[in-house]
Formats: sequence, C-alpha cells, structure tokens
Amino acid sequence: MKARIDWQRILLECKNNVQVSIRPCSAAIREPQPSLGIGAGGDAMKPVDLAAENAIVDTLKQHDVSFTLVSEESGVKEFGASAGECFVTVDPIDGTTNLIRGLPFYACSIAVSDKPMLEDVYAGIVADLFHDVTYTAFKGKGAYRGKKKIEPSKTVSLDDAVLGLDLNTYKVEKVAPRLTALIGKTKHIRHFGANALELCYVAEGLTDAFVDMRGKLRTTDVAAGFLIVKEAGGIVTSPDNQALNVELDPKRTLSFIASGNSQIHEKILSLVKCPC
Ligand code: IPD
Ligand code: CA
Repeated sequence: MKARIDWQRILLECKNNVQVSIRPCSAAIREPQPSLGIGAGGDAMKPVDLAAENAIVDTLKQHDVSFTLVSEESGVKEFGASAGECFVTVDPIDGTTNLIRGLPFYACSIAVSDKPMLEDVYAGIVADLFHDVTYTAFKGKGAYRGKKKIEPSKTVSLDDAVLGLDLNTYKVEKVAPRLTALIGKTKHIRHFGANALELCYVAEGLTDAFVDMRGKLRTTDVAAGFLIVKEAGGIVTSPDNQALNVELDPKRTLSFIASGNSQIHEKILSLVKCPC
C-alpha cells in the first residue's frame, strides 16, 4: 500500500526551503536582475523565481513524491512513476516585482490536487515570505494562519469596505470602465502586488473582497488562494457569478471575485460590468 503523504509537513518544508533559496537573490535587490527568458505563464523569469521553483521540486523529490508540476515558470513536468496521480500547482514567487524592489509583500503558492482542475485542489499553502506568515487549507478542514483558524469579514456594506482591486498594467482601457461603478461605491481600494497573498487577506478578513477582472491572472497564482478563501468560509466566482472550475495550466488565465460573505459578493456582482 502507498504511504500517505504528509502534505502539512511537506508544504511547510517547501516554504522553508524557498525562503532559504531566495536569500542570496534578496540580498542582491536593487542590482539589475537578469531575465532567464519567458516563463510558462508568459512573464519574464528571474533568478529568484527559478531558485524558488527548484527548492519546491527538490523538497518534493526528497520526500519521494511522484507528481506533475504545473508551474508558472517551467510549465508542466512529470516527476516519478505515478506522476499522473498528483498535481502540484505552483507560483514559486507571487509578487516578484515587489521582491526585487525590496517591497515587503511577496509569497510562494503551492496547491495539491489529484486531477489538474481547480476544484480538485485539496491542499494549499500561501506563504508571506518576508513576514514569515503562512496560510494553509485542507479541503473540508478550514483555513489557518499558522495554527490559528481564520474567518473572513462579515462586512456587508461597501460603504465600510476595504476592497482589493487589481488593475495592474493590462487592458486598462477595457477593464477600468467595467469597474467604475464599484470603485465609486466602495470606501477604500487597495492593491499590494501579490494576488495569492491578497486572497489570503480576504480569507482572514483583513480585506472584505478582492476583484481581478483583467482576465490575465493564471491558475497557478490562484489555485491555493482560492481553496484558502473557500475553506475560511468566503466565496469565489467569476464576475458573472459562475463557479470557476477550469484546468490547472500555467497558460490558463481567469477573472474572479473573491468575497468574505455572500451579501457583499452580491453587491459587487451587481456593480461590475460583464462580459469581462
Ligand atoms: C503578479 C502579482 C500581481 C498581479 C500580476 C501578477 P507574479 O504575480 O500577482 O499582483 O498584478 O498580474 O503577474 O508575476 O509576481 O507571479
Ligand atoms: Ca510568479
């Protein structure tokens, strides 16, 4: 019989090894960062991205895990004899721009599933690598910040809300007009630059919702974060209120709204303009 994989332990070990692996790169911030070409997700790959991905892969190999890697950097790669039974979807560094500028908001995101589909993710970790804060979730078992169970916000009114909103550098002429009604009705808008971690802020109730309607973000960035929001008790749908069960692939992108509760989710849905 196959030994049960202790994902709790292995994911934390991955996070620790990523932190160690990026130390030399973090020490060299503000120096020009060579680009290693374009990663599978379509963005320039930096040494720090590859160092973090290698740390994750090496940790899984050390534990004899057979898996298919679905990574924003190296794409889809199989490791071990039964690679088709376990999918490990990673964004080794979410918020690379922040990291290489010394902005203290970047994360590592790892999701585990038995099929390459978003809804089949059963374990996830998003780690704030600068502050060493770790968010985890296991399907049916809730979401945690470290050892503390987390819950999303109960704020229902946009008049009181802090809303995460990503309008970062992509088709802004098209996307911004679909959001003006929502922005106009919301008390505060934020974007910190690492969407996986910003999803955890919804899960923990630090923000009330997070909206990314650009259609740019990859499934690799959100796979773990979506599980963490849902396990905390929050809601994630497409901007036209559909479930988001798409394939896990570094090239697959999506738009989404993640909210702390159904009332605020409905208000946001009613204010954004689709199609998006
Ligand atoms: C980026 C971050 C950022 C978002 C970008 C993403 P990356 O991830 O999540 O908040 O605005 O679109 O590309 O590239 O650093 O993994
Ligand atoms: Ca990344």
